[in-house]
Amino acid sequence: MTAGTERTAGGPGAAEVEAAAAGTVGPGTPHEHEAWRHRHVLDVDDFSIAEIELVMATAVEMKEILSRPIKKVPTLRGTSVTIIFWEASTRTRVSFEVAAKNLSADVVNIAAQASSVVKGESLVDTIRTIEALGADMIVMRHGTSGAPYLAAEHFSGHVLNGGDGWHAHPTQALLDLYTMRERLPGGTVAGRKVVILGDVLHSRVARSNIWTLGKSGAELWLCGPATLLRGFERWAGTAIPGNAPFTVTSDVERALDGADVVMVLRIQKERQESGLLPPLREYTARFALTRERLALASPDALVMHPGPMNEGLEIMPDVATGTQSVISDQVTNGVAVRMALLFLVSGVRDVE
Ligand code: MLT
Repeated sequence: MTAGTERTAGGPGAAEVEAAAAGTVGPGTPHEHEAWRHRHVLDVDDFSIAEIELVMATAVEMKEILSRPIKKVPTLRGTSVTIIFWEASTRTRVSFEVAAKNLSADVVNIAAQASSVVKGESLVDTIRTIEALGADMIVMRHGTSGAPYLAAEHFSGHVLNGGDGWHAHPTQALLDLYTMRERLPGGTVAGRKVVILGDVLHSRVARSNIWTLGKSGAELWLCGPATLLRGFERWAGTAIPGNAPFTVTSDVERALDGADVVMVLRIQKERQESGLLPPLREYTARFALTRERLALASPDALVMHPGPMNEGLEIMPDVATGTQSVISDQVTNGVAVRMALLFLVSGVRDVE
């Protein structure tokens, strides 16, 4: 933050974002965020409440920028952001690109399948090559859990995780939290019943949401077939300092009863091992979010899905597009939250 700019409690303050917008804050221009200590965004497990609040407050400011006729500010002018995804994506990849461009960064997109990766280049070699080509930040998605941590060890800039294996999807969890806070009366998830329904086992989205929602005091329920909840009972019973406990159940009626938010997860057919997934017709009959099941939740419960959706499998089309759905808001808010994270990491060089 430049000297003399204002700061609101916990957040960057309009003056700071305006300073950023005016180009006086950005990479190479030291600015301080008292609550921020991350060089990378690898997961949310080590985010403090103050850091989560800072991301939320910064995203509010970024959303204001998105409402302007010209949605571009010069904050990251001269910063080079390389986006490389080893796994398919529409929302995450494109919203990171839009976010970086809105902040005036130079964006390089690498399609891993068309790069030297297919000739056997290792992850570390690829990261070193990207660095040698001048990247200041790397946004990456990889099928192997932990890959962004390895990248971060070999890259002198900033790594932002766009999803690694089953492990983490930190920016998704933060945009989910932002969307809930924006749409829930009172603007908080504290004490609200949030149900994550579906293929929890293979979901990096669920794992990161457990951290952000737990730290934020939500009453969290995980629901799905027992085979797709494996290991989560142990986690639920583990006392994580600062995290609220959560409930794990295959009883969909009990889970949905009075829920304030229902987040449906995609059945990740590509990650299934044999025997874990009941026949799809049976899954739909027992666990899909139908209009009838949604009626068990609170009357204005929010319906969420990180996408991509298998409509007719885990969620019915009328529910996905119904009046309670905030799925499109999640996509829009993804841009604001990713702008916030690009902005926040850009100001910290050496502190993790
Ligand atoms: C992810 O990358 O994890 C997605 O956002 C959710 C999904 O693939 O189902």
